[in-house]
Amino acid sequence: MTIPVAILGATGYTGAELIRLIENHPDFEVIHLGAHSQAGKLAGAVLPGCAGPVANMTLAAADAVLPEAVQLVFTALPHGAAAGSVYAALESGKKVVDLSADFRHKSADVYRAAYGADHPHTELFDEAVYGLCEFSRTDISGARLVANPGCYPTSTLLPLIPLLQAEVVDTTSIIVDSKSGASGAGRSAKTDLLYCELNDSVKAYGLPRHRHAWEMEEWSESFGGQAVNIRFVPHILPMSRGMLTTLHLSGHHASKWHAILSDRYANEVFVRVLPEGMLPSTAGVSGSNRCDIGLSVLSNHEVVIVSCIDNLLKGAAGQAIQNANLMFGLDETAGLSIHAIWP
Ligand SMILES: NC(=O)c1ccc[n+]([C@@H]2O[C@H](COP(=O)([O-])OP(=O)(O)OC[C@H]3O[C@@H](n4cnc5c(N)ncnc54)[C@H](OP(=O)(O)O)[C@@H]3O)[C@@H](O)[C@H]2O)c1
Repeated sequence: MTIPVAILGATGYTGAELIRLIENHPDFEVIHLGAHSQAGKLAGAVLPGCAGPVANMTLAAADAVLPEAVQLVFTALPHGAAAGSVYAALESGKKVVDLSADFRHKSADVYRAAYGADHPHTELFDEAVYGLCEFSRTDISGARLVANPGCYPTSTLLPLIPLLQAEVVDTTSIIVDSKSGASGAGRSAKTDLLYCELNDSVKAYGLPRHRHAWEMEEWSESFGGQAVNIRFVPHILPMSRGMLTTLHLSGHHASKWHAILSDRYANEVFVRVLPEGMLPSTAGVSGSNRCDIGLSVLSNHEVVIVSCIDNLLKGAAGQAIQNANLMFGLDETAGLSIHAIWP
């Protein structure tokens, strides 16, 4: 018996990735696809990479009533639009993994500061579990609603939290410099994302304070046990997928940091700490649900850490499947690859 699944936002980049991953999942089966402007069309007519039976499914409106059989809903919708769909799915007895930012914060004030709008369903904030799998497995496995972490926060929190827990980082001077492929900005048409705006160019954006800075600080403190001050600068690169985050950190006992991270992730399938001296690349994780972490110790009090993920996998759809596996008591790795598509 498979678990019937709905994907709302199936025509976007993360929705398409969910369809692809579920095709190879032993326990999940897509029975409902929701869209917005493309509702009414066949999935295969809108998604060039989609083939087989799913391609012949008609896209329902994002707010259509879900089939009763659906047990699990992935909401891959823009923030703001997701909250209502999440609420409706929970009301009709489904479990939800929300890929948007709508349930990643615990305070209405922080949500308003980061997203510039009031949240319509703050009553669900306490219940939502922040789904950084490597740090909240027990809570995820009992959850009805999991807030899937953002891509920039995932690539930042995985290397940072163990060092905060070890109390070796200067929490006042954390610099996070990230580069993302263009799929990180979604599929909807935007002038900034036209070929001629992106090609042969790299640009910073989101200053003075990108909305993911709030998420990084909130969950650094929650999991790491210390309040932090993060200066975060994201950049967009002319590539389709991939994310490379460089953390410039100072603190003490820098020579021990590699061992701290290696020990913490020794038994984690989806986080790999590279041998000292090796640095990761986006190509090394593309198509996989892995986060690769490399360190360069500059002195006894200064370290540069580089972390790479595929923004659509460990940064979105892959981590969402990992969360769903935990919620349904399945093998956490089901349907997910640790191997990259390489070269
Ligand atoms: N892209 C990433 O790397 C990434 C990583 C982590 C988290 N996320 C988050 O995941 C969510 C989905 O991201 P994405 O990149 O897949 O976005 P996307 O490519 O822009 O797709 C958005 C999806 O939502 C639908 N939609 C658009 N406006 C809507 C509305 N007002 N009401 C209901 N549905 C609407 C679209 O349907 P139509 O096509 O039919 O209009 C489409 O299916 C976002 O919240 C994003 O922040 C994305």
